[in-house]
Amino acid sequence: MERLQKVIANNGYCSRREAEKLILDNRVSVNGKIINELGIKVSEKDLIEIDGVKLAKDPKEYYLLYKPRGVVSTSKDDKNRKTVVDIIKTDARIYPVGRLDYDTTGVLLLTNDGELSNLLTHPKNKVDKIYIAKVKGIIDVGAIKKLENGVMIDGYKTSKARVKLKKVDKKTNTCIVQLTIHEGRNHQVKKMFESVGFEVLKLKREVFAFFTTGTLKSGEYRKLTIKEVKQLYGMFK
Ligand code: URA
Repeated sequence: MERLQKVIANNGYCSRREAEKLILDNRVSVNGKIINELGIKVSEKDLIEIDGVKLAKDPKEYYLLYKPRGVVSTSKDDKNRKTVVDIIKTDARIYPVGRLDYDTTGVLLLTNDGELSNLLTHPKNKVDKIYIAKVKGIIDVGAIKKLENGVMIDGYKTSKARVKLKKVDKKTNTCIVQLTIHEGRNHQVKKMFESVGFEVLKLKREVFAFFTTGTLKSGEYRKLTIKEVKQLYGMFK
């Protein structure tokens, strides 16, 4: 038995908060009876309807996309820009697991499995993310130490990070830095570098959990294997 709002959200219908609102707005019924409180639990056998329409139990789909530059990491964009969901040919209501900025490239998972998506993005689960950043200027040891120990962004201190200076280009006055973090706040990497006085010129996510872009080219995607999905769930046992 699971909470009604969780079941609605896990079917990829909407977020858990939006599901709570649907319930409180008298739009959800279970076995024909409108429910407008948040405590109730339902099972597989219960008939859940939203605005009188049966909650579709879509088969779960999982994709790994090498996100290209110039697409937004949402299902719909209010400025009508191309989204990561537009790239993937499916009728399932998939959405990205977390976000990459419009100009960031690299590993992005998409699914309609709300449960797995929540597990992967919940801060307490500390899923590894490795970024490679091209930075303006040559980063110094002091700045690296600060990034490693945590810096203040938007009024909170970031957790410990791993930082490796990979390459220095004196001619263009830029350098390449690899940063491993397990948080995923908005524009986190760019803000971390900004807080120590460096601008990120290019950003790629090389690793998310145990996924890399592998042999995919920018803009290409593939389905996850059953083994990979099991492995993902296994990270939280
Ligand atoms: N941090 C950023 O600043 N941007 C991203 O897209 C991802 C992490």
